[in-house]
Amino acid sequence: MLIRLNRYLSMCGVTSRRKADRLIEEGRVRVNGEVVRDLGVKIDPELDIVEVDGKEVKPPRKRYIILNKPCCYLTQLGRSQSGKKTIEELIKDIPERVFPVGRLDYNTEGLLLLTNDGELANRILHPRYKLPKVYLALVKGRVTEESLRKMRKGTELEDGPAKPDSVRVVRYEGKNTLLEITLHEGRKHIVKRFLASFGHPVIKLKRIAIGPLKIGKLPPGKWRDLSPRELRQLFSAVGLKYSD
Ligand code: URA
Repeated sequence: MLIRLNRYLSMCGVTSRRKADRLIEEGRVRVNGEVVRDLGVKIDPELDIVEVDGKEVKPPRKRYIILNKPCCYLTQLGRSQSGKKTIEELIKDIPERVFPVGRLDYNTEGLLLLTNDGELANRILHPRYKLPKVYLALVKGRVTEESLRKMRKGTELEDGPAKPDSVRVVRYEGKNTLLEITLHEGRKHIVKRFLASFGHPVIKLKRIAIGPLKIGKLPPGKWRDLSPRELRQLFSAVGLKYSD
């Protein structure tokens, strides 16, 4: 696939597209050994060799990571204005600039996917692919069979209807209940709002799976690369083909 030279330079992390145009005009960019000054030039990233100031530039390696986000970290990169900790400090040993796909609340734990693959990220977030997300929710009160039946039918929240794919009691913990709830949407605070609307406010929330990805035994605060098998399953779940 052919792409504009300035786009390629920004994809490789050299600079923004606009500043890339300046580099091109200044004659600092070569394609297959020839200086190129035409801003409209397109290149084939698979075939053409692009250099800036005599150094070859290549797109960064695609990274796909899952992080077990601990409680009390913001799902954002960089520093937070409030001084709260952000997930940035948990992934600072990853050289590529990876971005979180979706978010978890400050006090929610669990599976967060991070990648620098924009196409995959867009598909995962797109409602068309309906990737199920599984949560363990410790809620206040003992959830009865009757409440579970009502939850399964769904309810109307202030921003529209909400219906889980499934919900079940894992166990009772004293006066509280540990639920496993699966939803395939990502509205803000959806699990907390849904369960609170049935009179069971969430005490603790953890995401344990997104589509084929499971948090497993990954300790809180740690990340790992996805395996080729997980990548094949994830790509196929959103209608893409993974080739390693
Ligand atoms: N639903 C919530 O309420 N919070 C989260 O962090 C994720 C889903």
